[in-house]
Amino acid sequence: MRNEFIAFSILSLVLVGGVAYFAWQPMWWAFVILGPMIILGVYDMLQKKHAIMRNYPIVGRGRYLMEELRPKMYQYFIESDTSGAPINRIKRNIVYQRAKHELDTTPFGTQLDVYEVGYEWLNHSISARKLSEESLNPRVLVGGQACLRPYSSSLLNVSAMSFGSLSKNAIMALNGGAKIGSFAHNTGEGGLSPYHLKMGGDLIYQFGTGYFGCRDRNGNFRRKISLPHGKS
Ligand SMILES: Cc1cc2nc3c(=O)[nH]c(=O)nc-3n(C[C@H](O)[C@H](O)[C@H](O)COP(=O)(O)O)c2cc1C
Repeated sequence: MRNEFIAFSILSLVLVGGVAYFAWQPMWWAFVILGPMIILGVYDMLQKKHAIMRNYPIVGRGRYLMEELRPKMYQYFIESDTSGAPINRIKRNIVYQRAKHELDTTPFGTQLDVYEVGYEWLNHSISARKLSEESLNPRVLVGGQACLRPYSSSLLNVSAMSFGSLSKNAIMALNGGAKIGSFAHNTGEGGLSPYHLKMGGDLIYQFGTGYFGCRDRNGNFRRKISLPHGKS
């Protein structure tokens, strides 16, 4: 309350002083700038949403302005080409260039610190060995002795991406890939669509979150999934 009183006193002084000064001068048009500021200052003092603006009318707005500018200043002046998260500037630039059909290749070198502790990379072997069938196609058996239909699952499969977040063509492409590569394709929480079944790849049916895929027409949880004739 004390701050408000001080701010109000200063603003009143400026107002009265301004009126007195400019009334004597042929610069009355300066009120075009001062007038709205005074109104803004009075508004700031009377509003109850932002304590900073109420305590420091007009000047307090600087804080919100800085907050607004902060990400932009950070991006333009502080952030390096490699430090931005989640996607750094180098990668963003490639996206921009490709979107504009501009040249997206940079000759030689990298700006990444490849000597940094923890930097990881893959090297191909200079004395290649013949890999066993098992290491080429790592699999695990799902389902113990009591299981009527155990399943030999690939360790690498297509992770859950629901129909709604992709499209019929993407679903068919993923499932077609699963068929060719003998791995499985998770339906995602959107449930099963006819396009999941079209290409014949193995499917993992996602129950969670249970919002979309496992409901009957009345919105109740549905325990039985009916597949088109001939599919199992
Ligand atoms: C477009 C898209 C849709 C997704 N939909 C689902 C989903 O329906 N159910 C689910 O459990 N996870 C979903 N996910 C999460 C992925 O299954 C996966 O866990 C996630 O993308 C992390 O793996 P990544 O780092 O290889 O992308 C989705 C991811 C993406 C990109």
